[in-house]
Amino acid sequence: MKQRIGVIGVTGFVGRYVAAALAARGDEVVGFSRNGAGEVPGVGEWRRSGPWDLSGLDGMINLAGERVDQRWTAANRQKFEQSRIDLTKALVRALHELPPAHRPTAWVNASAVGYYGDRSDEIIEENAEPGQGYLARLCIDWEAATAEAESMGVRCVMVRIGMVLGRGGMAWDRLRLVFKLGAGARLGSGQQWMPWIHIDDLVAGILFSLDNVAIKGPVNGVSPAPEKNSDFTKKLARAVRRPAPWIAPAFLLKAIFGEFGEFLLGGQRAIPRAWSEAGFVFTYPTLERALAELTRE
Ligand SMILES: NC(=O)c1ccc[n+]([C@@H]2O[C@H](COP(=O)([O-])OP(=O)(O)OC[C@H]3O[C@@H](n4cnc5c(N)ncnc54)[C@H](OP(=O)(O)O)[C@@H]3O)[C@@H](O)[C@H]2O)c1
Repeated sequence: MKQRIGVIGVTGFVGRYVAAALAARGDEVVGFSRNGAGEVPGVGEWRRSGPWDLSGLDGMINLAGERVDQRWTAANRQKFEQSRIDLTKALVRALHELPPAHRPTAWVNASAVGYYGDRSDEIIEENAEPGQGYLARLCIDWEAATAEAESMGVRCVMVRIGMVLGRGGMAWDRLRLVFKLGAGARLGSGQQWMPWIHIDDLVAGILFSLDNVAIKGPVNGVSPAPEKNSDFTKKLARAVRRPAPWIAPAFLLKAIFGEFGEFLLGGQRAIPRAWSEAGFVFTYPTLERALAELTRE
């Protein structure tokens, strides 16, 4: 049945792919942006990101968030928090204002594997304890901001997203360029785990979570095969047919990126238990498969 889905942050990297996928299967897409409108294929109607009008939606997907791959200054931290915690709380307030019968039945909200902090070799499923540090705290509060929606009868899924590999995404576009130039490097010891996911699988997983009434609460939005940074580096170098003999020393990463550099030196061996148990099938379950698709000219 055709549905009307609101997508917040639809102008972003993931949002664009989500809008296209929803439209391709025949859903109507209501795009939300701070600018009130944008150029995103698949979006049929535009609304402003705040003050929030969530009327007439069957479901909603919130992908808004200020990018965290910049220096974590006080001003930027405020933007990270405002665009995630405050924005999500404002969505809950807007849901409150709607008559119960007019509320969307399902809400998929972005979160991140940063929720788990830095976790060495431990296998991380959704029931793992949260981690330490600023990003973990940010994700904990971001997810908690949705809590009240459940009590309003809105099924809520928080997708703890790993590094998304896809054309047009900052991670892949940068990695591809750097490795193609032969400047690819292992980060620090290279022993940290990198939970990654191909954009097509993330989008399919988001739609699967939206549709599947059995899924609620946190899900790990990651492939079933996380890689250690050193292996990720070797496989990516092989895929673009360039050597990557370099090592980016930890002190340099910290000097360049500040606390985000520390984040790059940590990781989580996260696996998608909730999606797999619900029967979700990955198109790109291994890094080799994902890279073969991404490096195809
Ligand atoms: N990409 C990844 O590898 C990755 C990994 C883990 C988690 N995530 C999370 O997944 C979500 C989508 O990621 P993405 O890569 O698509 O992000 P993105 O390309 O940076 O886009 C996010 C969108 O959020 C909105 N936004 C940005 N700053 C905002 C602010 N200060 N206040 C309100 N809205 C703001 C923007 O929409 P408008 O300008 O149109 O309002 C923007 O298009 C984000 O929440 C991100 O944290 C992504």
